[in-house]
Amino acid sequence: EADLESKLPLKGKKILITAGPTYEAIDPVRFIGNHSSGKMGFDIAKRAANLGAEVILVSGPTHFKVEHSNIKVIPVTSAQQMYDACHVYFDEVDAVIAAAAVADYRPKYVAQQKIKKAGENFTIELEKTKDILESLGKIKKKQFLIGFALETENEIENAKLKIQKKNLDLIVLNSLQDEGAGFGKPTNKVTFIDHFYSIERMSLKSKEAVAEDIVNKIIAHYE
Ligand code: CTP
Ligand code: CA
Repeated sequence: EADLESKLPLKGKKILITAGPTYEAIDPVRFIGNHSSGKMGFDIAKRAANLGAEVILVSGPTHFKVEHSNIKVIPVTSAQQMYDACHVYFDEVDAVIAAAAVADYRPKYVAQQKIKKAGENFTIELEKTKDILESLGKIKKKQFLIGFALETENEIENAKLKIQKKNLDLIVLNSLQDEGAGFGKPTNKVTFIDHFYSIERMSLKSKEAVAEDIVNKIIAHYE
């Protein structure tokens, strides 16, 4: 273990990681967000950096902080800002790990003033955000692309569709089936599916251990 860290197997590699939720503004004081803490992305960033990689960590709002000479944090708020930041760095990276929980929709109109309470019902019109990972899959050259999938039904089938749609090399399927896995929990149960659709089911383990498994996939790719 300490042995692997001393070997720096990812030295010379540059890795882009997205983490955390995005916040989509409704008005100056309100937003649409989600419960992602950012822990998975930060754990992956630390592990990759400890193994010698140079990490660009594009993170939505989170309370996590990291001070590491190999990690450059780019804080963003919205899906559009995360998209823009990822495209700034994509050309120069060797791999991408998209661990962020990006909003799929955002308010179509952002009110310039705080919305006042009025009628009994209130509707917000939403529009699709850009799919960051899919956009990177379309322009990828040598980059090794890892995505996540959160599914509550037909999980393997849906994850395979995402591999195809986003041109991924590997997908990390988060299994919510298991108690103790997922948002806000210290543990995750994941299944890896590669672009040949070969499936590897992992046991329930800490998010740090899952981060190690994911980083090992990148190391294996370069071996
Ligand atoms: N993702 C992204 N940009 C988006 C939405 C998702 O980069 N606008 C990335 C996520 O970071 C994740 C992967 O795409 O790595 C899959 O996200 P997920 O929410 O599971 O899938 P979606 O494609 O958004 O489809 P759905 O939510 O309908 O299942
Ligand atoms: Ca989604």
